[in-house]
Amino acid sequence: MDRLLIEGGVPLSGEARVSGAKNATLPILCAALLTEEPLTVTNVPHLRDVTTMLNLLAQMGVAISMDEQLGVELVAARIASPVAPYELVRTMRASVLVLGPLIARCGEARVSLPGGCAIGLRPVDQHLKGLQALGATISIEHGYMLARAKRLRSAHICMDLVTVTGTENLMMAAALADGTTVLENAAREPEVVDLANCLNAMGAKVQGAGSDIITIEGVTRLHGARYRAMADRIETGTFLAAAAATGGSITLRDVRPDILDAVLDKLREAGAHVTSGPDWIALEANGALNAVNVRTAPYPAFPTDMQAQFVALNSVARGTALVTETVFENRFMHVQELKRLGADIEVEGNTAVVKGVGHLDGASVMATDLRASASLVLGGLIARGTTTVDRVYHLDRGYERIEEKLSRLGARIRRAR
Ligand code: EPZ
Repeated sequence: MDRLLIEGGVPLSGEARVSGAKNATLPILCAALLTEEPLTVTNVPHLRDVTTMLNLLAQMGVAISMDEQLGVELVAARIASPVAPYELVRTMRASVLVLGPLIARCGEARVSLPGGCAIGLRPVDQHLKGLQALGATISIEHGYMLARAKRLRSAHICMDLVTVTGTENLMMAAALADGTTVLENAAREPEVVDLANCLNAMGAKVQGAGSDIITIEGVTRLHGARYRAMADRIETGTFLAAAAATGGSITLRDVRPDILDAVLDKLREAGAHVTSGPDWIALEANGALNAVNVRTAPYPAFPTDMQAQFVALNSVARGTALVTETVFENRFMHVQELKRLGADIEVEGNTAVVKGVGHLDGASVMATDLRASASLVLGGLIARGTTTVDRVYHLDRGYERIEEKLSRLGARIRRAR
């Protein structure tokens, strides 16, 4: 099992390019199921979750190849098996994103219930409620969702809560439904917009993505397209937080500053100097950081996927910070591990009270979920001495070659088997 060895205390410096967004790529790959023509996706990040999704689609009969520009071409000419088996779904919850496209394209789907995960129960009731409103009949048998629909029909769906993949599943299903579907209380995340843009490039008629009311005028068929996935805003935020927390100065390229306001504002509030252009962001730490309070919520508020990284950043800031998690019910598993590095953090309900300490000291820590792992890497970069981060496979799910990118920014970090 891989682990990362980090010699901390080095301010990050230099330039790095950010990869394509995992959470945009995953639904966009599923959109290939909606047409028998080739969908080519570029800027696809080389991640464990992407490999898992490609394996799942291949198992269904999707032909997958790589072109000379490293674009991933998917051809779902015929879907031999509209099934997402438990063995794959339990390793990646985003597999549930095949449900909507399969029902729309094949009229049936057999998808394993995702089950819980480290950060919470993560039910999919909103996905099912919306698909039933669109005319699908769904039963749960032996841990699988069995869905059928002769032809999906339009509906006016008001989601009970904001769900990113729920919005994405319903948008894809409605793209081939009869009539015009309205999704109210839709997720506004940039990854939802990226999927909508890809669907429209395939001939869909989606309007309002990025707002909380999305209208999808169903069409009879979609055609192929070539689409470039957006940059990963969470990888961007993670590297900026690492530079700020280590007192460094970095520039990130191929990024989208326009969708990171909440994170950039918090970095400036902490005392970092942040500038940006159309596709770049530069951060320069100005000495010790000030503690900043954070409250996660759906976009455009502060992203839950950046919460753990800001707990690490606050652990060595001046003062006390309140970090409140409102999206998931169990997303503080990084706290116990950061305390092994000397952080002073107490969790009270859904809030972590982080008292800044003068320094952290290297130790062995264990990753538990994707973003918790990122905060432990930040902790190791900050701490004096050596930190070992175990179970790095969690990190590989969402960060492409993180140790190579951090090494290029001056970090003393290497992977050990
Ligand atoms: C997406 O997960 C992301 N994953 C998550 O990123 C991200 O943390 C999350 O959105 C919130 O932004 C992908 O896009 C692949 P939700 P998703 O449905 O869609 C509850 C990462 O680290 N809920 O928006 O699964 C749910 O339990 C991952 O990259 C229901 O109750 O999240 C949660 O409390 C982690 N019923 C809240 O809503 C439902 O039917 C938000 O979940 C659906 C969700």
